[in-house]
Amino acid sequence: MARRSSRYVCQECGAVAAKWSGRCDSCGAWNSITEENEPVSPPGAVVSAQGRRFEFDTLDGTAKSIERAVVGIPEFDRVCGGGLVPGSVLLVGGDPGIGKSTLLLQVVAALGKLGVPCAYLSGEEAVDQVRIRARRLTLSDSPVKLAAATDVRGILATLEAEGPVQVIVVDSVQTMFVDSLESAPGTVAQVRAAAQSFIGFAKKTGSVVVLVGHVTKEGQIAGPRVLEHMVDTVLYFEGERGHQFRILRAVKNRFGPTDEIGVFEMTDSGLAEVTNPSALFLTERSSAISGTAVYAGIEGTRPVLVEIQALVSPSVLATPRRAVVGWDTSRLAMIVAVLEARCGLSLFGNDIYLNVAGGLRIGEPGADLAVAGALVSSHTGISVPEATVFFGEIGLSGDVRPVSQADNRLSEAAKLGFSRAVAPPGKGRKSHDIRITQIEQLNELVAMLQPPSTSAAAESGSIRRQHG
Ligand code: TYD
Ligand code: MG
Repeated sequence: MARRSSRYVCQECGAVAAKWSGRCDSCGAWNSITEENEPVSPPGAVVSAQGRRFEFDTLDGTAKSIERAVVGIPEFDRVCGGGLVPGSVLLVGGDPGIGKSTLLLQVVAALGKLGVPCAYLSGEEAVDQVRIRARRLTLSDSPVKLAAATDVRGILATLEAEGPVQVIVVDSVQTMFVDSLESAPGTVAQVRAAAQSFIGFAKKTGSVVVLVGHVTKEGQIAGPRVLEHMVDTVLYFEGERGHQFRILRAVKNRFGPTDEIGVFEMTDSGLAEVTNPSALFLTERSSAISGTAVYAGIEGTRPVLVEIQALVSPSVLATPRRAVVGWDTSRLAMIVAVLEARCGLSLFGNDIYLNVAGGLRIGEPGADLAVAGALVSSHTGISVPEATVFFGEIGLSGDVRPVSQADNRLSEAAKLGFSRAVAPPGKGRKSHDIRITQIEQLNELVAMLQPPSTSAAAESGSIRRQHG
């Protein structure tokens, strides 16, 4: 009998290696590689041109217009691109305990109340536990089909016999078990096979399948990343520990835009929508403190104002500390370097801490100017002008570059009571009830935030003001 050979599969990214190692070469995760049996390929895996022939189609044929199932939770619908698309498969990833089960129970219950046949399959919680949660969320009266099941074959057989079920939540895909495979539930092979079965079912029946996937740190079970390429839509549910806010973010969507976010707040009675996130991210703000600056950002299609906080303090360590929450560490290093090299600020020898308030994660380079403002303000002890927002990207030469959607950013800032903006120059801007200080070089910002004696000289030459 031929010996079954082993292979080593990273449970985070699915990369396959010939031998075990402590760290995955392709994604860099530690301790995520486990041994799996090599799948036995049928003899003659290479095929010749003897299969059944098919007809090609053209691009200009008539496509059916998509009729989305609108859930009625606008923050969720928007992130999905305007509702759930029939026959599509969504992956909702996130850390354990972040609120994935709560969110999806609210989604199916809302759809159920609209008369859409839905099923919620729990592989982690018993039926009673889900019922208790439903009662707590006051959703018990919604006609959702509920089951605790993990056997994929049984689930698909039941769903088929049950008649049309339009939306199916599988919580979580890592607990699902395909009996034709030997490996344990949660391994890459099982998770992929289970997902593949549900995807096949969705395409065949037109049902929407929502797969829940836990993000894992230890790599004991496969992470949702191994499924990202297979599904139509990937949503991540994020939040900082100790914050009530939760952010649903689309990172891939075959039927809608990505980078869209939905903001929720975890309350005693489930997830509540936050329709005006700017007001929420700015609530605890007191304007006269140095080291903070408000960034006028864009998340997806929506402007969001958020406070950036920095602390620059002399370090006693040989290598000063740099700690960042909610932003990119290397981007911070770049801005510190530009402030040092182009603006003559001496930040070396200081510990630097940077925090995006409210638990939001910012990916846009447009936040550079706000970050620089917070850093300089903390360094000089001069607070930024009151009721001012910042946006603009900083280049390595110290130039401040325009960013997209300046008008949206400005009107959101005006709506929330801000009266000034520090921004790169822009042509054809609409007029806003907001005074714009246009800067082209980062040292103009540094000059604004100097103690009065030094700033008078600097300001006279370099800052151009324009009333918008
Ligand atoms: P859960 O949806 O079980 O998380 P996940 O499925 O992502 O693992 O959410 C669990 C957390 O949410 C738990 O710590 C309790 C909290 N929670 C509330 O604060 N309010 C609520 O109404 C519910 C249902 C949960
Ligand atoms: Mg859960």
